[in-house]
Amino acid sequence: MSRSTMIVGTGSFVPDKVLTNLDLEKMVNTSDEWIMTRTGIKERRIVGEETATSDLALKAAERALKAAGVSPSEIDLVLIATVTPDMAFPSTACLVQDRIGAKKAAAFDISAACSGFVYGLSIADQFIRNGTYDTVLLIGAETLSKITDWTDRNTCVLLGDGAGAVVLRPTEESKGILSFYLGADGGAGDFLKVPAGGSRQPPTCETVNKKLHYIKMRGNELFKIAVRVLTRAVEEALSRSCLSIEDISLLIPHQANIRIIQAAAEKAGIPLSKVYINVHKYGNTSSASIAIALDEAVREGRIKEGNIIVLDAFGGGLTWGACVIKW
Ligand code: UT7
Repeated sequence: MSRSTMIVGTGSFVPDKVLTNLDLEKMVNTSDEWIMTRTGIKERRIVGEETATSDLALKAAERALKAAGVSPSEIDLVLIATVTPDMAFPSTACLVQDRIGAKKAAAFDISAACSGFVYGLSIADQFIRNGTYDTVLLIGAETLSKITDWTDRNTCVLLGDGAGAVVLRPTEESKGILSFYLGADGGAGDFLKVPAGGSRQPPTCETVNKKLHYIKMRGNELFKIAVRVLTRAVEEALSRSCLSIEDISLLIPHQANIRIIQAAAEKAGIPLSKVYINVHKYGNTSSASIAIALDEAVREGRIKEGNIIVLDAFGGGLTWGACVIKW
């Protein structure tokens, strides 16, 4: 029997502060009705000024380790998927490695925007499957509120903060991660980006005044691509493990917009009763979205041993990917 990778514990954490659609009505020219009908989002969680991404990541990680019964000293690798690192470097993974006390672990961040958690799973899977590491801590964590233009109604109603984590270990049984499909289209990268703050446009008074450190999104174009690639990713990942749509027990898609989720599920022929949805509570939390949803699904008893779970991501880059797991 060959070695494969299984999730042995999940955890998540969202900040206490709730920002409702009614709160947003007082900030920009929008309405609860518009946000609900166009996105399905009712509220989102927002960190306070003093809180950074590593603070959320740490709490989600502690919960995942507790659920797994794994101590920090056993971790070989800490991976964090984020587009809102505490700073350019050290990586947020290194900050968490230190704070959690994972003394023997290597650590690095993954930049694949909303697909970061699924990309991260594929990295963890390689390290575990080939025998390099036995225990990997993977976290998706974001404080998108820090890069949100709170005067731009096109984006500010969509985004939220949070973190989700998993602990991964090898198994000799025929379960765990079965297959992946990952994709990217850098040519469409302009549809979703933070233009400044890197080496192309370093921070200046001008970049700040022009609001170039905030998320810019062409939602309409993204919507159509999202539905197409989310559907394709599920089909490709399933075919790589010789499974079909009917085998899926639960689809956990990236939570960006209820209409995208519904359209992709319909296109793939998956009934909504088999789709996990929590976008109404948290909005789009980028790389944390699937990780939080997975943890909630586990804790609510929606996932049972032997179930086929498909994680399905789409985001900036553009990037996308799906992962098939036998629980
Ligand atoms: O994380 C992965 C990447 N992100 C995504 O996948 C997001 C994908 N896109 C979407 O979710 C949707 O395209 C949005 C929610 C962003 C927008 O929904 P839409 O149905 O595509 O609306 P729209 O962009 O076509 O805008 C329709 C109207 C526009 O007004 P006009 O031009 O028709 O007069 C917008 O100005 O709605 C207006 N609008 C708003 N109205 C009230 C845009 N944002 C708002 C708002 N409140 N917050």
